[in-house]
Formats: sequence, C-alpha cells, structure tokens
Amino acid sequence: MTAPIKLVVLISGNGSNLQAIIDEIECGRLNAHIACVISNRADAAGLQRAAKANIKTKVVDHQLFESREDFDQALMQSIDQEKPELVVLAGFMRILSDPFVEHYLGRMINIHPSLLPNYQGLNTHQRVLDAGESEHGATVHYVIPELDSGPVILQARVPVLADDDALTLADRVHQVEHKIFPESIRRIAAGEVTFSHGVVYYNQQPISYAQQQFNMLP
Ligand code: GRF
Repeated sequence: MTAPIKLVVLISGNGSNLQAIIDEIECGRLNAHIACVISNRADAAGLQRAAKANIKTKVVDHQLFESREDFDQALMQSIDQEKPELVVLAGFMRILSDPFVEHYLGRMINIHPSLLPNYQGLNTHQRVLDAGESEHGATVHYVIPELDSGPVILQARVPVLADDDALTLADRVHQVEHKIFPESIRRIAAGEVTFSHGVVYYNQQPISYAQQQFNMLP
C-alpha cells in the first residue's frame, strides 16, 4: 500500500461532498489523508463535519481582505503550509485569480453541478429545468484559469424527471457528485489519472470521452 495522497479541501458551505470524501477514506476505499479543510466562511456547516472527523480546519475570511489578490495570497499561504499533493474545491464559492490557479495547475480539482461544457456558472439546476433538458449531471475537472472549463476527469449523468423542481434535481445530482468526486481522487491517488500541459491522461493515454463517463443513461 502506497502512502495516502495528501489533500487540502476548500469549502464554503454544507460540505456534503467533503463528507463523501471523508466517508470513503474512513471505510478504506480511498487511500487519502485530509491535512486540512479551509473555508472562506466561518459559518460553513462543512467545518463541523471536518471537526467531527478530527480534521484540522482553518477559516480564511474573504471579507477581511481588500482585494481578491490579497485574499488569494493568504489562502495560498494557508494551503501551502500543509504541503498538499492535491487541492480539492468542494463547493468553494469564490472565483480564484489567475496566479492562484497557475500555482496549483495540475494539482487542483473542482466539482461542478452540470454536464460541462454545458451550464457553466451558477444556478445550474434551475437553468437546466428552464431549458427543458432531459438529462443533467455533474463534472469533476482540473482547474484552469477559465472558469468551469478545465479538462474533465469524470462526469455522471442523471435524468431530469417531469415533476422535478430545482431542489429534487439538485438532490439527484448530489447523489452522483458523492460518487464521482471520491472516485476521481482515487484515480489520481492511484496514478491512473494524470494531468500534463492541459490534457488529462487515463493510464498514460489521453482520456477518452467514454473513460470520463461514470454512468450512462439507458
Ligand atoms: C455542489 O453541488 C458542487 O457541485 C458545487 O457546490 C455544491 C457543494 O455542495 N460546486 P456541498 O457543500 O458539497 O454539499
């Protein structure tokens, strides 16, 4: 067994994805160690989840900084103190400056609640409903300077049902997020997934569309 991959997880809110990662580590399916959970909000419920799992927490409150660059600098220092191998954005609701993203290029991943490249940005569930889509989902990707545009590691699809509202649809998307996020970290930790010059490789070959798909609608 190799050494667990060292993670820093960034959150802003509920932290259900953080919980899914904690659960997979605790049951032995994910060979990872969360060195620290960092939130930009002191009231993020995810901080309680971390504390309950005996994981170190830090708050870097964006409201205390004059500029995005100052906040990003402080955040970078907090992260780098932990010497993580991978930075995991798990519902971290701040846009990060280009120098920050460049600093972690190839070692920072994000989960987004849509089938990227469709529905970048916010309010994805309502926008999917408004557009009358028949399917929706979630995407794990490496973070690059362009928002919600990084190369895809894993994607999972869910159906949109006739009686869905934004809450029921979000709930269904969350269920698959909790599978593909730990699985993406597992693939990176195992060396199955790597990143080089903007490209994701799966077992040393540029990842194919099929390899990015966690599940397919029938
Ligand atoms: C998730 O829907 C994720 O896709 C998005 O933010 C949400 C975080 O949820 N980036 P949680 O805090 O993990 O419950």
